[in-house]
Amino acid sequence: MEKFNNILPDLKKAKIRTKDQTVIKREIFDLPAQVKNLGIGRKYFLRTYGCQANERDSETIAGILEAMSFTRVDKEEEADVLFFNTCAIRKNAEDKVFGEIGMLKKLKRHNPDLIFALSGCMAQEESVVNTLLAKYPQVDLIFGTHNIHRLPYLLYNAMMAKERTVEVYSQEGEVVENLPVSRFGKHKAWVNIMYGCDKFCTYCIVPYTRGKQRSRLMSDILQEVESLKKEGYQEICLLGQNVNAYGKDLGMEDGFAMLLEEVAKTGIPRIRFSTSHPRDFSENMVYVMKKYANIMPSLHLPVQSGNNDILKIMGRGYTVEHYKHLFDLLKKEIPTITFSTDIIVGFPNETHEQFLDTLALVDYCQYDLAYTFIYSARESTPAAKMPDTVSEEEKAQRLQILNEKITYYSNLNNQRYLHKTLKVLVDGLSKKNKEVYSGYSEENKLVNFTGKNIAVGQIVDVYITEVKSYSLNGVAKEEENE
Ligand code: 5AD
Ligand code: SF4
Repeated sequence: MEKFNNILPDLKKAKIRTKDQTVIKREIFDLPAQVKNLGIGRKYFLRTYGCQANERDSETIAGILEAMSFTRVDKEEEADVLFFNTCAIRKNAEDKVFGEIGMLKKLKRHNPDLIFALSGCMAQEESVVNTLLAKYPQVDLIFGTHNIHRLPYLLYNAMMAKERTVEVYSQEGEVVENLPVSRFGKHKAWVNIMYGCDKFCTYCIVPYTRGKQRSRLMSDILQEVESLKKEGYQEICLLGQNVNAYGKDLGMEDGFAMLLEEVAKTGIPRIRFSTSHPRDFSENMVYVMKKYANIMPSLHLPVQSGNNDILKIMGRGYTVEHYKHLFDLLKKEIPTITFSTDIIVGFPNETHEQFLDTLALVDYCQYDLAYTFIYSARESTPAAKMPDTVSEEEKAQRLQILNEKITYYSNLNNQRYLHKTLKVLVDGLSKKNKEVYSGYSEENKLVNFTGKNIAVGQIVDVYITEVKSYSLNGVAKEEENE
């Protein structure tokens, strides 16, 4: 039986990058009987915060728990073990988690045997773990992003020894293949292509919480895609913090273009990928996207700011001119492409003029969608030490002005699709109206539509009859022979 020692996070260690080649562990996942049977008659609840990487990690956590015979439930009150897989990207994400942990006290009063576990990026932060240990006795188990494969033994210890269990490695270990996975989607799947990030943008905590960049082998990724295709999955999304740097740690040049081409050749109906970094996005990539119809014409290309000085202090490694050149090339080669982006306002000392440059860039790119944020200082990052003279009020105002512009362009772009037919992958019934289906078009537009004999997971032609800022309405085209 594998043992463990309490190991707390250390952000100084997390900063270190070694030249060591990543070890890929591909042992068959096998558990001792007492661990395998731990969940018999017991239920787990799992909540995920934050990004797609966390969603995919949660699928592994769920897979491991199910391999330990636990059954999933949707209600916290019904669970014997509760998991929060957390996000640390901004302070408000963390505040939300702390608030929800506070509420667990009540559940524990009703059920003193309840085990509460916290994982994900917050578990990698020293200050968070210290606070949890000092002020939140209701937390029984803390494990980090590099310790997911250790979950069976950690949970066994927390439950059987009834002691607080903390294991957070600060430096990444191996890439562990062959972990069980319980996928949440039946026709769309996430596929990790790499872990970690080496970019160290000065505002970002991810390189500390998720460690050094480690690419999976192309053969492992392709095998996963092939088996998803066989299982009937219609869409996959290739995941990484910086997918365009895929393979650099394996000595590949332009590895992502190569990988994407091979993934396209598998013939899986739809391929998306996230997140792209403008600095590492090769021109060759543009031509691969253009060449294969199953690579969706939609790209998330975070710009962060429209001002060169701010981009430089952010450590982004590209200029506005470079970004525009890439943007123009993509538009020219793939005319149907849609763009989304991430933008931060109120980076330390951002001037009004610098903010206006961001607005000007939005006018240039006319994004279909943008995720906009007020800068949030993060533990151990260089930007957190930069003096900042911009008031919170000013930052909030900038965000509002930016959001109005974003909505304007989203609406404007959507007008293009009125009276056109889009191919929609059906996700299910709309949340608001149970007679209406919803899904995403190839361009990543949310489409709500009516129709007969519609099956979830099917790709249907939908005629667009109405346009809103963030969605389209339509009617499914009937098959001609019906
Ligand atoms: N403050 C605000 N936004 C941030 N992001 C990352 N770090 C921070 C931060 N400290 C945003 C970036 C990134 C997205 C995932 O979150 O825009 O692209
Ligand atoms: Fe953070 Fe930059 Fe890495 Fe993205 S590329 S995860 S913003 S450090």
